[in-house]
Amino acid sequence: MILKNNYFDDCYFSQESGFDESCYVFIEGNNLNLKDKKEIKIGETGFGTGLNLLVLEDFLKNEKDKKVTFTTVEKYFLKTETVKNALINLKGVSLEALEGHLNIYKFIDSRKSDGWNSFSFKRAWGVLEINLFIGDVMDSFENYPVKNICWFLDGHSPEKNPDMWSREVLSNVARNSDEGATFATFTAAGMVKKNLRDSGFFVKRKKGYGKKRHMIFGFLLFFL
Ligand SMILES: C[S@@+](CC[C@H](N)C(=O)[O-])C[C@H]1O[C@@H](n2cnc3c(N)ncnc32)[C@H](O)[C@@H]1O
Repeated sequence: MILKNNYFDDCYFSQESGFDESCYVFIEGNNLNLKDKKEIKIGETGFGTGLNLLVLEDFLKNEKDKKVTFTTVEKYFLKTETVKNALINLKGVSLEALEGHLNIYKFIDSRKSDGWNSFSFKRAWGVLEINLFIGDVMDSFENYPVKNICWFLDGHSPEKNPDMWSREVLSNVARNSDEGATFATFTAAGMVKKNLRDSGFFVKRKKGYGKKRHMIFGFLLFFL
């Protein structure tokens, strides 16, 4: 099932290749490597179905004793059934991984409230801490709980959802970054590049996933 967000008239991810695309854009785009690290803090804009978290867990599957803090925001939290229908036939998603993911999603749904929520889950690869802000991304920065070393920028397309890519949002992404933080995103829109550069990021373009021409990635050069 192709899952569309009617608030933005945009899809959450590609039904054909969402899993591989998320891996290419966010995991490879950030050059994520946990071999020498015990702990990592990753930020995301736009939790949606949590596909990026599921892909991240797949990336971690052969690790041991890691701690990942995943801090994300979502204005329109989905029903677990909707997430299940969207992910069940996605190439790359095993039934076992999906089951684990849906358990987390359901648990969060049953306990979440507006504003910041924190959860901790024991996983085969270590500990997963999730900080989830329910509400608008801008409001999440009033009390952002961590400094991330890596960012998955995954709002809808900037044409359909410019608010998620504003200078204010991306400056706050920079402000809540650790020194040398990296980012990656599927879009290479001019306005996104400019707002990231104006917020202190070094921005580079590379080939996008599949038929997409470009995506961007980079790192924090300086704090403003
Ligand atoms: C492209 S989808 C994210 C896909 C997601 N990473 C996934 O794995 O399904 C973008 C998400 O950002 C959320 N979003 C859009 N604008 C927002 C805002 N201003 N504040 C918080 N969340 C927002 C949407 O509801 C949607 O779930």
